[in-house]
Amino acid sequence: MSASKPVTQVQPFLDPDTETWSYVVYDHPGGSAAVVDPVLDFDAPSGHTGTGGAKAIIEFLHREKLTVEWVLETHAHADHLSAAPFVRQQVGGSIAIGDRITEVQAIFREVFNLEKAFLVDGSQFDHLFRDGDTFRVGALEARVIYAPGHTPADMAWLIGDALFVGDTLFMPDVGSARCDFPGGDAATLYRSVQKLLELPEETRMFMCHDYPPAGGRRHRCETTVGEQKRNNIHLHQSVSEAEFVAMRNKRDATLPMPRLIIPSIQVNIRAGQMPPAEDNGTVYLKVPINKL
Ligand SMILES: [Fe+2]
Repeated sequence: MSASKPVTQVQPFLDPDTETWSYVVYDHPGGSAAVVDPVLDFDAPSGHTGTGGAKAIIEFLHREKLTVEWVLETHAHADHLSAAPFVRQQVGGSIAIGDRITEVQAIFREVFNLEKAFLVDGSQFDHLFRDGDTFRVGALEARVIYAPGHTPADMAWLIGDALFVGDTLFMPDVGSARCDFPGGDAATLYRSVQKLLELPEETRMFMCHDYPPAGGRRHRCETTVGEQKRNNIHLHQSVSEAEFVAMRNKRDATLPMPRLIIPSIQVNIRAGQMPPAEDNGTVYLKVPINKL
């Protein structure tokens, strides 16, 4: 019997409220897993959080008898709050993000005038990965690919033959992530995507979001490098950097801020933890006026 490479098992979970995809990535039932980009429910009008979505992930992990090694964030999300601390508390694992999160923390410490004790050294996370780092998820080999542009800190996670792209590319008929948040840059995103598209064409690509175009297809999460090269409406292989930058900047100027950007960023740069409670025991999030 010849030794064959283990196949990456991927179970997606859609958060319909924010159109975010979270994933459990594992080697085999009873084996090891990573959780990618878990979502904490958040009702902005009431300020209430919930773990309904994350519990579906936890139930799957229990059902498949998986040991969680990592809880991976592709970046500090601006559209949803991270459920990474809840997942770690329930099933263990180390919360990890790209090392350039420190730049994002520095930007938003100023925007939100955060408390002096808030450190911009990434120490809120269990582990910071650097570009090119390798790690394992049980029998699966994994590699970290730095993919900035949407934010300065985005990482793509290549786990076996499955690439988790975060907010870089979206499905081919949707295109690419916006680049107008503080620290974002369209030319940088273009170069990051070129790097991802150098992977073998059959590499499976898993999106962080899907925003189905009008006309009614269902949410999808998976495509391949080859399909993106041929068909991505913003970044197929004959689009030049200058063309992409002009398109992206023009389009970004028309996009409203994500509904949950203000609460999300404040929580996600703390690895999904809430700010410290005030002296009445209540946790508050701030709204900077006329700043973002
Ligand atoms: Fe994002």
